[in-house]
Amino acid sequence: MALLLDARDATAIEQAAQRLARGGLVGLPTETVYGLAADAENATAVRAIFEAKGRPADHPLIVHVAPDAPRQAIDAFASAVPAFAERLIAAFWPGPLTLILPRRADVAAVAAGGQNSVGLRCPAHPVAQAVLRAAAAQGVRGVAAPSANRFGRVSPTTAAHVAEEFAALGDDALLILDGGACAVGIESAIVDCTRGHPVLLRPGVLTPAQLEAAAGEPVWGRDIGGAAPRASGTLESHYAPRAKVRLMDAKQLRAAMQVLGNDAKHIALYTRTPIEAARGTPRRRMPDDAAATAQELFAVLRELDATGVRLIWVETPPEGPEWDGVRDRLNRAAA
Ligand code: TXA
Ligand code: MG
Repeated sequence: MALLLDARDATAIEQAAQRLARGGLVGLPTETVYGLAADAENATAVRAIFEAKGRPADHPLIVHVAPDAPRQAIDAFASAVPAFAERLIAAFWPGPLTLILPRRADVAAVAAGGQNSVGLRCPAHPVAQAVLRAAAAQGVRGVAAPSANRFGRVSPTTAAHVAEEFAALGDDALLILDGGACAVGIESAIVDCTRGHPVLLRPGVLTPAQLEAAAGEPVWGRDIGGAAPRASGTLESHYAPRAKVRLMDAKQLRAAMQVLGNDAKHIALYTRTPIEAARGTPRRRMPDDAAATAQELFAVLRELDATGVRLIWVETPPEGPEWDGVRDRLNRAAA
């Protein structure tokens, strides 16, 4: 079992920072999802992240920096920051936005998965910030942290999820800080700033309109072609529970349920519309609000998955850009 510490305990923050400085792994709460963190400039520590996750070594990790001197932290890793990226940083850091910037050739090559770019994020969660600050005081300039799940699986939004994912790691191999449930619930939006104009690689809770307003120019979609950087969060199949996820509108759900009748025992439901189902069917009501749905989405998928059903039927999210992040994660979970 990993070592699980309550992040409200002041010594817990210090212990986590010391682990990072010594090349260890930390399960770190952020406002989006929990990360599996290590010193971004310690190649051995970063390789331990890839190994624990079962993630291919050419899938780059996001480097997290402390909020106090973001400019200094950015300059430690990025060789250039275009003006539109500066504006995005001014508008949304600290917060759920990752920027891909050209990487300084001499830093964090393993964390960057060999790309000549680097993903940078300054998280808003007070525990993440406290740990980044304490680690910086010990010489750790950046903390590489992918979502703390096994490769291809649902991202964790509680400390218990992280412990579940890495049950095989002992308390000497992983310290998890319990900072409560994540407020945002889905991963940061990723904007590629290496191509002359902003390109949205992964939607989050910030809408394209919000990003464009701050960037001061149009934000391009991921499908503009060219050599797209490798991003596992952008693989078609990702964020998948064990059960098969299927998206349907309310009409299709009703029809499918009627066809199955009492044979529907192996199905769980996550819908806004009340759908008649056999008694005992595991089900959760999807909120009408996009942010509330994002916040609970991964926990609900885990919970329904844990009932042992074979299928999770989910009502298609409403149209509208505020649902982009949720729609994206559900489409990948269903792919
Ligand atoms: O909200 C988040 O972003 C969370 C928390 C822990 O900060 N982290 C997260 O990391 O979602 P991860 O590794 O699960 O997803 C990071 C995504 C991946 O799709 C990765 O390929 C992409 O960011 N990425 C990182 N660096 C990149 C780079 N240099 N070029 C292109 N994509 C990059
Ligand atoms: Mg991930």
